[in-house]
Amino acid sequence: SAAHAMSKPKILLTRSFPTSLLAEAEKDGKIELVSWPHKEKPADRKWVLENAKGAAGIAITMTEKVDEELLSAAGSSLKCISTLSVGYDHIDVRLCKERNIRVGNTPSVLNEAVSDLSLLLILAITRQAPAATRVVREGRWKDTPISPMAFTGPSLKGKTIGFFGFGGIAQTLALQLANFDVARILYKTSRERKFDSSDEYFGEFGKAHWEERQTLRQKCGKERIEVGSVSSLDALARESDIVVVLASLSPSTKHAIGSSFFEQMKSSAHLINVSRGPLVDTSALVSALKEGKLAGAALDVLEGEPAIPADHPLIADPDVKDKVFLLPHIGSANTETRMRMSALTEQNVLAGAGVPGAGFEGQE
Ligand code: DGY
Repeated sequence: SAAHAMSKPKILLTRSFPTSLLAEAEKDGKIELVSWPHKEKPADRKWVLENAKGAAGIAITMTEKVDEELLSAAGSSLKCISTLSVGYDHIDVRLCKERNIRVGNTPSVLNEAVSDLSLLLILAITRQAPAATRVVREGRWKDTPISPMAFTGPSLKGKTIGFFGFGGIAQTLALQLANFDVARILYKTSRERKFDSSDEYFGEFGKAHWEERQTLRQKCGKERIEVGSVSSLDALARESDIVVVLASLSPSTKHAIGSSFFEQMKSSAHLINVSRGPLVDTSALVSALKEGKLAGAALDVLEGEPAIPADHPLIADPDVKDKVFLLPHIGSANTETRMRMSALTEQNVLAGAGVPGAGFEGQE
C-alpha cells in the first residue's frame, strides 16, 4: 500500500558499489533505494542535493563532501552517513553528532591492503624505482648496463622507521616491517593510548601479534626490535630513516610535515605518505627535495588530488622527479579489500537507517 511504501526508509547511494546488500534490501521491500546511475564517475553535487531530500541514510565515498548544505538538503529524516573509506575528513562529524546523525566508516578491513601498499612505496622509493623505470620506459636500458652502484639505495635492515600516527594501519605495517629486520619502530601519536608506558603501544590484537613476532625472532637468533613513542615531530624527523605518515587529517595535522620537519630530517631519509595529502606541505617538500634535505618521497596521496596536472613539480621538475614515486590514491585497492569496504559501507547505512539485522561500525 502507499502508506507502507512511505514508511520504508529511503537510502541514497551516490556511487556505484560492487556489492549488492542495498539492492537486495530494496528487492526484499525493506528500503527505497535511489542510486547514482553512472558507473565510473562520481555523482554530481546537484544530483546529490536534489536526491538527498527525505533520505534516512546516505552512502558515499570520500569524494562527497558532507556539510551543512547536504545535511539540510536531506532534512530531519537523516539518521546516518556511511562512507566507503576509513578516513572521514570529508564529513563534518561534529555537525552530524549535533544532529544525531551516525557516521559509519570502514576501519580495520583495509589495514593489510594499505600496509601492503606502504611497503610497495617504501621499497620503490628506497630502491630508486622512479629513475630505474624511467630508463626502461625511455628506451635507455642499453645505455645503462649493470654497474656496481647504479640505482642502489639503502636496505631496510637495521633502520629506524618513524610513524606519524599509529592506528591500525600503522601497527599492521610495523608488524610487516619486522620481516625486513628493521631495528627500531618509533611513533608519534596525539591520541590517548591504552598502553601509555613510553615502551610499547599496540592494541590488544596487535600487541599479541607483536610479542609473537618478537619471540619468533629471538628463536631465530635475531635482535628484538625496539618500539617506542617520541614526544615531538622534530624527534621523529631527526631519528627516522623512513618517515611514514599515517595520521588522520584535521586542522591540527594539516601541513604538520612542512619546512621545519624537513629541516630536521636526515638527508638520507625518505618520506612516505599514505593518509591524506594535506598533511604534507607540498611546496615545502619540493624545496626540501631540491635542497637535498631528504633523499626522496613516495606518496599515494597529494594535496589538490585528483586535479594533479602533468606539469606538477613533483612529476615534472627535472631536479625532483626521480626522487618522487607517486600513485593516485590506491592504498586500499586490492580486490578483496574493496569488496569488504563496499559491503561494510552498505551494512552501516542499513543499520544506521534503522533496517533491522545489520551491525554498525563507525564514529559514535
Ligand atoms: C580511505 O579509506 O580513507 C581511503 O583513503 C580511501 O578513501
